[in-house]
Amino acid sequence: VLPDVAPGDFSAALPALPPRSGESFEAILADYDRLVPSHTTHWNHPGFLAYFSSSASGPGILGEAFAAALNVNAMLWRSSPAATELEQVTLGWLRSLLALPASFDGTINDTASSSTLYALAAAREAAGSHVREQGIAGRAPMAIYASEDAHSSVDKAALTLGLGLGGIRHVPVDGELKMDVAALRRSIRADRAAGLQPIAVVATLGTTSTTAVDPVDAIADVCREEKIWLHADAAYAGAAAVLPELRPSFRGWERADSIVVNPHKWLFVPLDCSVLYTRRPEVLRRAFSLVPEYLTTSDADTVRNLMDYGVSLGRRFRALKLWFVLRYFGAAGLEARLREHIRIAQLFAAWVDAAPDFERLAPAPFSTVVFRYRPSGTSDEKRIDAANVLLLERLNASGEVFLSHTRVGGRYALRLAIGNVRTMERHVARAWQLARELAPS
Ligand SMILES: Cc1ncc(COP(=O)(O)O)c(C=O)c1O
Repeated sequence: VLPDVAPGDFSAALPALPPRSGESFEAILADYDRLVPSHTTHWNHPGFLAYFSSSASGPGILGEAFAAALNVNAMLWRSSPAATELEQVTLGWLRSLLALPASFDGTINDTASSSTLYALAAAREAAGSHVREQGIAGRAPMAIYASEDAHSSVDKAALTLGLGLGGIRHVPVDGELKMDVAALRRSIRADRAAGLQPIAVVATLGTTSTTAVDPVDAIADVCREEKIWLHADAAYAGAAAVLPELRPSFRGWERADSIVVNPHKWLFVPLDCSVLYTRRPEVLRRAFSLVPEYLTTSDADTVRNLMDYGVSLGRRFRALKLWFVLRYFGAAGLEARLREHIRIAQLFAAWVDAAPDFERLAPAPFSTVVFRYRPSGTSDEKRIDAANVLLLERLNASGEVFLSHTRVGGRYALRLAIGNVRTMERHVARAWQLARELAPS
């Protein structure tokens, strides 16, 4: 999975300047074959179990290729009727697969980081702050709330929106690593008393570290009382709402003002495809719509112009790959694959639980298992951390699997995340066999 290469190896194999005359495609492909796969971390490999895996299924790859062939720029309906309308159609399909109400309007962005940035820009706009006309100088400082385990994209959004890192409150988590709602309420009240303006809460449904699910229904109550925007970051785990039996985990997310789900994480669509749903698309448009003369069209009041929903003017035809994937697998095919991923993750979790020298450090509600090696007879946390750092290095140097790490309550932990369409029980069993063999004695 991981290539055995050092920084600079790859560029050292390439000429410093481009060719003066065009080259044959045979020569180009020969260099591709010789250099690129051997210097690539293979996200499509079934042993890729790191981060949240993003795998490209066959229909998704074809969708990408067709989109490049058409080379549509979906900024206006006029510039891209099929791309604009297919985005609406596929996002309507996805919304029904996720059992979200029809009041949610969707757009496709490159990443969850952009989707969250746009959602929080809409929250800032909804706070009635006249930021659009006057910027943020001279205003009461604004604040955004997210759990201490929320993704760093929330902090980046605060940076980008001019709130600064000081404008983000990291609310403590409880024993199950979920946002402590009482602490959230206290934090909002203390800020209001100090003259700040709370504008949004981000609930994470499937945190990056452990896939914990914040209590979104209770958080929605707080947001309603406080009249502030609720954004749900379900970038990875949102896909699991395709499964009726997992929907209880998401109860209350339909009350959010905006939700991000990344089909490029766990729905087999190649990077990049992040969906932002919002019940308040008019606010999102108010935050971003700005139409120069050359982009005015006579149909502007009756069509959807995707440039109005974010920073980018140009947009790729991303709906095509989502359409291919949804049609090729069908709802039943997607459900079967997600269920299988969850089944093999639970199997791995059970192997960890049964092993005297290993332990889990967090619940595993989806397809990600957070665990560590815990040699018997040792309680020195520094030594246990060091053994796990070494174990991860050895596992990843094997070339057969790639896992990542996190810290839970300060303890170094390994993360095994299943999301690759090609990952099967035997790959996970091999990862477990390697973990036991390579654990330092
Ligand atoms: C919960 C969560 N939100 C947001 C992101 C950022 O995703 P992206 O790479 O699409 O910006 C991640 C990345 O893993 C994530 O786990």
